[in-house]
Amino acid sequence: MVKPLFAALTRNFLSLAGVLLAGFAGVLLVLITLIGTLGVKLGSFISILAYLLLPAVLVMGLLLIPIGLWLQRRRERAAVASGGSAPPLPVIDLNRPTTRGVLVVAVLLALAIVVILAGAGYKSVEILESTEFCGQACHTVMQPEATAHARSPHANIACVHCHVGPGASWFVKSKINGLKQLVDVTFNSYPRPMPTPLHDLRPAREVCEECHWPAKFIGDQLVVRSHFGEDEPNSRTKSVLMLHVGGQVGKAANGIHWHVGSGTSVRYLSDRSRETIYTVELAGSDGTVKTFKTAATPPVDAQWRTMDCIDCHNRPSHVYRDPGLEVDAALADGRIDTSLPYIKREALRLLKTDYASEAQARATILKEIDAFYRAQYPAVSSERASAVTQAGKALGDIWAWNVFPQMKVTWNTYPNHIGHQQSPGCLRCHDNKHVTETGAKISKKCDVCHNVVAENEAAPEVLKALE
Ligand code: HEC
Ligand code: HEC
Ligand code: HEC
Ligand code: HEC
Ligand code: HEC
Repeated sequence: MVKPLFAALTRNFLSLAGVLLAGFAGVLLVLITLIGTLGVKLGSFISILAYLLLPAVLVMGLLLIPIGLWLQRRRERAAVASGGSAPPLPVIDLNRPTTRGVLVVAVLLALAIVVILAGAGYKSVEILESTEFCGQACHTVMQPEATAHARSPHANIACVHCHVGPGASWFVKSKINGLKQLVDVTFNSYPRPMPTPLHDLRPAREVCEECHWPAKFIGDQLVVRSHFGEDEPNSRTKSVLMLHVGGQVGKAANGIHWHVGSGTSVRYLSDRSRETIYTVELAGSDGTVKTFKTAATPPVDAQWRTMDCIDCHNRPSHVYRDPGLEVDAALADGRIDTSLPYIKREALRLLKTDYASEAQARATILKEIDAFYRAQYPAVSSERASAVTQAGKALGDIWAWNVFPQMKVTWNTYPNHIGHQQSPGCLRCHDNKHVTETGAKISKKCDVCHNVVAENEAAPEVLKALE
């Protein structure tokens, strides 16, 4: 039964190639799926090959078959036109058992192909949407983002959730983008570091507001930060802020979230990095527009943008911190023992050194911190050896969370715009230099954003009442 069908399909080279390709891909796909179902773990490379490449080969093979047949018919017609005799068209006679057999086989084959393709399609979408695929398939390329994501408050949210919208059009858009990235990775031509900001990110208000309710009034937030000095006892101080996050109350919004309140629209003109802001336009709900300008002339490729969540929260998921904040956090939560003399100073010195790789950084930091205490504090070195080693390990982690030499990512490659400690952040606009024609400024007054209740005090009065 199969023979006549095969013969019909393979009278020309293209269709024959199509049959072979489709058969090869189909059989491999079934085999790999069977192996997978038996519980054998396939590496991500094999899975990607199996579920992304093989279905494409299968479809290509299937397409070649009719193309071959069509070309063959054309050749035959041309032969007729030049005086040859017309080859007889096949007669479909369902009374003949062979024809019925061929039909049954053809229908079964088509069904099998549909099942295989549907299965592979389902699997491939699953793979393409996984955090592992985004973060690890191109391990080196996405390592900084994947590492930072894993320790962010959004660690359990898949990359595609923020970077790809729902629905088929976003899926296709992101895959076209993905193909370009695949080419870049294959030819090693991708940018290092990955450029920021992303100019084609899904609208933030759409993404973030899926989970965060913008109308929620957060009000004032008490922020207490611990800092440690670079002196021998690593003196601990605290800063206390009353941060006016604000939010929406009825029809009006106030505080920091006023920028995204209903009725507020802030537009700005900046360079492509969005670090230097030239003009800010505030449109009132009554239709008036207030324009704040600096004295500088914007570059020719300056761009307008309407402010949304990521103009402040530009690191919701890829959180990198500067060495000072990282070491303070590690000292505050006990990953590094605060009683090691000069540990803050030494930590900063070692973190700010250049290393060629993570392995080298971890090894050198461990060795150097050990050498420091051996030379300067022999008693600490011998009696508290494990605390010293633990500090070295914690510093290695900190380095590896923030510095990625193979991607040319180092401290502050990706500035954080919340506040004004790690980059100008809010002060890109709130610097008293953006003024209207009548002299009104975007305020730099500390109290607009927060009351600084205590700044680097050993024992802030306000905390005594709370502790
Ligand atoms: C909570 C939302 C969210 C999640 C989840 C998320 N990202 Fe991002 N990502 C962002 C935002 C916001 C930016 C920066 C936008 C800007 O400043 O233009 C960004 C930027 C990036 C950049 C550009 C470089 C940079 O750091 O600015 C890359 C690459 C990236 N993300 C990859 C990933 C990968 C890979 C994952 C999953 C491991 C992921 N993202 C998960 C929101 C997210
Ligand atoms: C799929 C749901 C989801 C999306 C989408 C999402 N978030 Fe979140 N977000 C969360 C969860 C869950 C937390 C963690 C709450 C916690 O740990 O208390 C969080 C925490 C936060 C926090 C508090 C961080 C902290 O340090 O405590 C901020 C700020 C934030 N998100 C901003 C954003 C922004 C900006 C976006 C859009 C780019 C966004 N989120 C998108 C679910 C989401
Ligand atoms: C003008 C800058 C700015 C804009 C715009 C902005 N935020 Fe915030 N947001 C802040 C600051 C500052 C905080 C205080 C917490 C902090 O320092 O991370 C905060 C806090 C938050 C928190 C944590 C609240 C908590 O209870 O801890 C969430 C969630 C959040 N913002 C979501 C959003 C979303 C969603 C948008 C967009 C609709 C947005 N923000 C727009 C500056 C901004
Ligand atoms: C793109 C420019 C821009 C950036 C960046 C920016 N702001 Fe603003 N902000 C404005 C403008 C414009 C106003 C309104 C000034 C006026 O009304 O005269 C404003 C007003 C405010 C107000 C007063 C709101 C009210 O209730 O009237 C607060 C608070 C504030 N900003 C906090 C912040 C904080 C915190 C950040 C950083 C996380 C920040 N802003 C970043 C442009 C900006
Ligand atoms: C446009 C808003 C804005 C203005 C103006 C502003 N700040 Fe801040 N500041 C912030 C925000 C937002 C944070 C919190 C950042 C964070 O969550 O880490 C902050 C954080 C701080 C911190 C705590 C840093 C830490 O980690 O201990 C201090 C101290 C501080 N500001 C001092 C000042 C002083 C002094 C002024 C006036 C000269 C000022 N700020 C003006 C928005 C502002």
